[in-house]
Order: sequence, then C-alpha cells, then structure tokens
Amino acid sequence: ANVIAADFVKSSVRPDDCPRDGLPEFALVGRSNVGKSSLLNSLVRRKRLALTSKKPGKTQCINHFKVNDSWYLVDLPGYGYAAAPQEARTNWDEFTRNYFLGRENLVSVFLLVDASIPAKKIDLDYASWLGQNKCKIQKSSQTSNYVGINLVPETPLKTSSNVPMTLVFTKCDKRKKKKNGGKRPEENVENFQSLIREYFEAAPPWIMTSSVTNQGRDEILLHMSQLRNY
Ligand code: GTP
Ligand code: MG
Repeated sequence: ANVIAADFVKSSVRPDDCPRDGLPEFALVGRSNVGKSSLLNSLVRRKRLALTSKKPGKTQCINHFKVNDSWYLVDLPGYGYAAAPQEARTNWDEFTRNYFLGRENLVSVFLLVDASIPAKKIDLDYASWLGQNKCKIQKSSQTSNYVGINLVPETPLKTSSNVPMTLVFTKCDKRKKKKNGGKRPEENVENFQSLIREYFEAAPPWIMTSSVTNQGRDEILLHMSQLRNY
C-alpha cells in the first residue's frame, strides 16, 4: 500500500472531461474545509500537491491525482460553503453529484466528516443522498471501532451504482473546545455513527484520521488497496 509516486493530472468541471483511461479511483468528498485536500496530501506524503486553505471553498473543480501510475485520488469541491455566491455553489454541487452518478471507475466514496465538531445535518443529508444514489447497499462485516483488513464490506459490489462508502473522520488531533460543543472527537464520532445508521443497513466502515499527525493514513491506504483488488 505504499505511495511511490503521485502526480496531478487534471482539473475538470464536467464529468465528461475527467480522465478516460478507466483506472480505479477513490473520491474524497465532504463539507468545505473538512480537510479533503489536506488528507490527500497526507496520503501521498506531499505538503502541497493538492492546494489547501484556512478559508472554505478552496477546491472548486474535480481534481484527479494519479498514484503509482495506476489509480486515482479525486479531490472534490466541498459542499455547504455559505460564503461563496449561490450560483457558484449550485454549480459545484451539480457537477459533483453528476460526477458521482456517472463515474463508472469509481471504486469507493470516502465521505469526510469533521470529528472536532458535533454532527451536522448537512453531512447526514449528503450521506443519505449518496446512500440513495451511489452507495446503495451498505453492509459492513463490522460496525465499530477497528481499522485495517476487515474494513472491506461483505456485499459484492460490482455495479457502478453500488459502490462502498467509507467514513473518514478528520481533525482527530483537535481537542475539545467549548465553542465546539465541548465534546471530544471520540464522542462526536460515536454520535455521528448512531445518526447515520438511519440511512444505511449498517454503519459504513470508518477510520479516524488527522492530517497533522497522519493518524489513519496507513489504514486508509491499506483499505484502498483492498478495495482495488476486491
Ligand atoms: P475545500 O477545498 O474548501 O472544500 O476544503 P478542504 O476540505 O479541502 O479542506 P483543506 O484540506 O483545505 O483544509 C481546511 C483547513 O483545515 C486548513 O486550514 C487545514 O490546515 C485544516 N485541516 C485539515 N485537516 C486537518 C487536520 O487533520 N487537523 C487539523 N488540526 N487541521 C486540519
Ligand atoms: Mg480542498
């Protein structure tokens, strides 16, 4: 599961413009500012391959990065960024959802959720949309806190409208703060898990991460290599 090479390939604003070589790919999606681009950099051990920012709304295109010349990581615009003009937001949201609906070589969706704040409705809504449109049957063999080799769901997942979803909790290095509702990352994660079970037959597999400490990096890479071979 080692990353030897990682290269930016292209930015697209239409699913049709995305690479057509059919290589397997993994999409990173989540609220603006949740840490998608930072996680991508952590995974490939590069500081600035994907551009990150303190300000939400940095990533505005579908960005393809090729890893080891054989698979893609896809960095997507975030949802829910209230400060961008409505027109731009609608546009990002539309092409991102169309990307999900049409992309046949998408092996798995990684939905990123901020573990440093309490569960947000917008994340549950997005998970629900994915559950209805792309990640239909979700049955993981386990539902709780382990990482690694058993993460791959049991269900055969051979069609492009039924790809496994993995929950990635980000910013687990951030400790509780009053303004964040005073909860520890572990408590926020547990709460999110129980809420998301309403939308899925079983909670999707999940991994706790930090792009600051690189927590979860090896687990994600291992999980991705298993999903590619699945
Ligand atoms: P958009 O492209 O705007 O949708 O955002 P994004 O999801 O790509 O977020 P990005 O990676 O740009 O990170 C947003 C901010 O969160 C930056 O200031 C990062 O440094 C910070 N950040 C990202 N991951 C972590 C993390 O694991 N821990 C901490 N403490 N901060 C993080
Ligand atoms: Mg980004």
